[in-house]
Amino acid sequence: MRLLELRCERFRNLDEVTLTPSPGATVAVGHNGAGKTNLLEALYYLATLKPLRASKLSELVRHGEASAKVTGRFLLSGAERELQVEIFEGSRAAYVDGKRAPSFDDYFGGVSVVAFTPDDLMVVKGSPEGRRAFLDRAVFNRFPAFLAESRAYAKALKSRNRLLKDQAPAAHLVAWDETLAKTGARLWTRRRALMGELQARAVEAFQRIGRTESGASFSYAPAKVELDFAAASEEALAQALQAALAARALRDLERGHTSVGPHVDDLELGLGGQSARAFASQGQARAIVLAWKVAEIENLHAASGVLPLLLLDDVSSELDPDRNAFLMAYLHDSGAQTLLTTTDPSLVKRAAGPQTVWLSVAGGKVTKGLP
Ligand SMILES: Nc1ncnc2c1ncn2[C@@H]1O[C@H](COP(=O)(O)OP(=O)(O)OP(=O)(O)O)[C@@H](O)[C@H]1O
Ligand SMILES: [Mg+2]
Repeated sequence: MRLLELRCERFRNLDEVTLTPSPGATVAVGHNGAGKTNLLEALYYLATLKPLRASKLSELVRHGEASAKVTGRFLLSGAERELQVEIFEGSRAAYVDGKRAPSFDDYFGGVSVVAFTPDDLMVVKGSPEGRRAFLDRAVFNRFPAFLAESRAYAKALKSRNRLLKDQAPAAHLVAWDETLAKTGARLWTRRRALMGELQARAVEAFQRIGRTESGASFSYAPAKVELDFAAASEEALAQALQAALAARALRDLERGHTSVGPHVDDLELGLGGQSARAFASQGQARAIVLAWKVAEIENLHAASGVLPLLLLDDVSSELDPDRNAFLMAYLHDSGAQTLLTTTDPSLVKRAAGPQTVWLSVAGGKVTKGLP
């Protein structure tokens, strides 16, 4: 997979940007507030239809404009394909080769990106919510159908929570429990499948990066449910969730929200058998995240034979020199197409080669060459 051209129109502070990235590394350099992350975010949104950081779609549209558009030409298994997404009035429309995409499957077919941001580096010490989002981005990268599946779950959860807030009779809740359990069990199987593929790779990648005696561990299991998670069928997972929902109905009514299901679980990150959240140093925590990202890239490559497009947003300034050197050498050797942003080009020069395209970003404009 290769990105041949990217065009952004009225996306955040970017006015009209057309760029031809390198097949290797493309580095966007600029001062704070120039629009570097916006450029990366435009590409991430195009490839995933998930915002990298915005909470509302309308934030992606340039102030004072009615709509934004991002277009990318990709080379996929030898054929060219144009993806386009338009954002207007808080919603979006996705197109493949100029025609409205009939389904997510049509749209995503073959394009995958792995993003690595300073927010990711905070994940180990941060909230369970942040770790769930972190895990789910990886699940989505591996199984694009997960986007629609997690929306179905979120919708059912919202309906049940509304009933809880309205103090609906317990009998009414039961009507929702089955849908919630079914959609929830699907999320569990997706997360389980991803963890099954990623775990060993991430442990091994941490050995390469960690520079510590202790090993890292990565695990996930549903909270507050009785079941053999590793072995249970999807149907058994749905039954276990439905039973847990029924058992907690009164407590949930008291509290006004649903207290069991994929939306309350946590991704357990460990170091030397202890909780990394509680005990890892900042550097170790970052190495754990880096190992996860490396595992994700290698896993996608193993599963599809195609290297994902890598997006790194100013990560080098957050890593210590050794780990940054590891990452830059890794990117260089992986052969993956990469888009990096930085305020300081010297931090990423190890990822660069003769093919590297340098871009200057200033005031929402992108030009070729170093500033
Ligand atoms: N919808 C929007 N319309 C216009 N400008 C926006 C919009 N959303 C964000 N901006 C502006 O875009 C500018 C650039 O943001 P961006 O995060 O891309 O900067 P950056 O180059 O990554 O900076 P840093 O090095 O600090 O990370 C900010 O000044 C922000 O106010
Ligand atoms: Mg930025």
